[in-house]
Amino acid sequence: MATVAVFGSAGAVGLEIARTMVLQPDVTRLVLVDIAEDKMRNEANDCAMLAEKMRLEAVEVVPVVTDLTRDGAIAEVLARYQPDVTVQAAIPISWYTLANSVPKDIWKRVNYEARLGPFLPLLLSFPIRFMEGWRDAGAPGKVIQLSFPDIVNPVLAGMDLAPACGSGNTENLCSTLRMMVADRLGAPTREIDIKLIAHHFHSWFQRSPAEMPELQQNMFHFQAFCRSHEVTAEMLGDPSFLQDLRKRYPYQRPRFAATSVVKNTLRMLRNDGLVTHVASPACMGGGLDARYVNGGWQPVLPQGVTLDDVEAIFARARHADGVESIGTDGTVTFTDRGNGAMAELLGFDCKVLKPEEVHARAEELLHCIKTLRAAA
Ligand SMILES: NC(=O)c1ccc[n+]([C@@H]2O[C@H](COP(=O)([O-])OP(=O)(O)OC[C@H]3O[C@@H](n4cnc5c(N)ncnc54)[C@H](O)[C@@H]3O)[C@@H](O)[C@H]2O)c1
Repeated sequence: MATVAVFGSAGAVGLEIARTMVLQPDVTRLVLVDIAEDKMRNEANDCAMLAEKMRLEAVEVVPVVTDLTRDGAIAEVLARYQPDVTVQAAIPISWYTLANSVPKDIWKRVNYEARLGPFLPLLLSFPIRFMEGWRDAGAPGKVIQLSFPDIVNPVLAGMDLAPACGSGNTENLCSTLRMMVADRLGAPTREIDIKLIAHHFHSWFQRSPAEMPELQQNMFHFQAFCRSHEVTAEMLGDPSFLQDLRKRYPYQRPRFAATSVVKNTLRMLRNDGLVTHVASPACMGGGLDARYVNGGWQPVLPQGVTLDDVEAIFARARHADGVESIGTDGTVTFTDRGNGAMAELLGFDCKVLKPEEVHARAEELLHCIKTLRAAA
């Protein structure tokens, strides 16, 4: 018997989470929270219908309409339903809306030159509110926070607001690699073991205009095994392998961030210690293998790899994503290139982001985007 709550459940990712989560026998109550009442109530009804057709066990689907920006709203929901796992997937404006709301030529340059890092205020504002609400409710259960987890979750940890993990991004990269190796060897995916240490940048890169040398300078850690026999050299030795990865990586497919969430939720509810690739386990700055034991994610490193090696991979990738550093108190400094592009193209100049400035900076960035949109 477990309660799972999904905040932002009427959104592109949230509704996919809800539809998959409702089919899991471990979940006996699903609380769906959003401000978009009609959409969310439709979604809750769809989930109940799905369960009615597909499940043997009973499940309760509870729609909750609330505005997360209202003081006390988040804590009220969490205190009432006491979820075992809560998913934070609410955001004031989605990436897909952003990409379509700015003139195409400018968006192309922003996405390529600034990267995702300098958009941090918009991606961090709701997660801060959410984790504060969770703390105010007495910290019930565990939180999966999936807004840009490789950067947002370490910042939250610096503010003493740590969620359990993220989801998505590098988890999709790991799945794609496993399927590619399986196909090339003609083996079932279950017989392929992938050791991946990677960052959001490595996921973004796959469908970006960035050139291969940039990946090679900031490479992820990758090892592949088929029935315990290492095949990494065979895979990487073929120049078409990384090219094919770019073609196969799922682009703008919210379903796979969602299925990552459900996978991680099941590991957490079952507390079974099975190893899986997780985005930002225990607020680490990227994705790697981890197991959930004693109420927390613990990293599982490949043989011969140290935590310093892991951090070096994350630090290079973070920089390529537009973030120079994350201070221990959660202060973020952006790269000159990233901030320069934001200042030139969007009129938003923020070289350093302090935790206490996040909400105001998020408003300012949203205003810059709307101004550009109105002028287009
Ligand atoms: N980790 C990954 O792989 C990955 C991939 C895609 C998206 N994401 C993240 O998932 C999150 C959701 O993205 P999306 O594309 O589904 O966005 P979306 O805009 O489609 O959904 C966001 C939802 O939040 C709700 N919301 C907005 N303001 C609210 C408020 N004040 N109170 C209550 N609810 C409110 C909206 O109504 C909407 O249903 C984002 O943080 C995004 O960065 C992560």
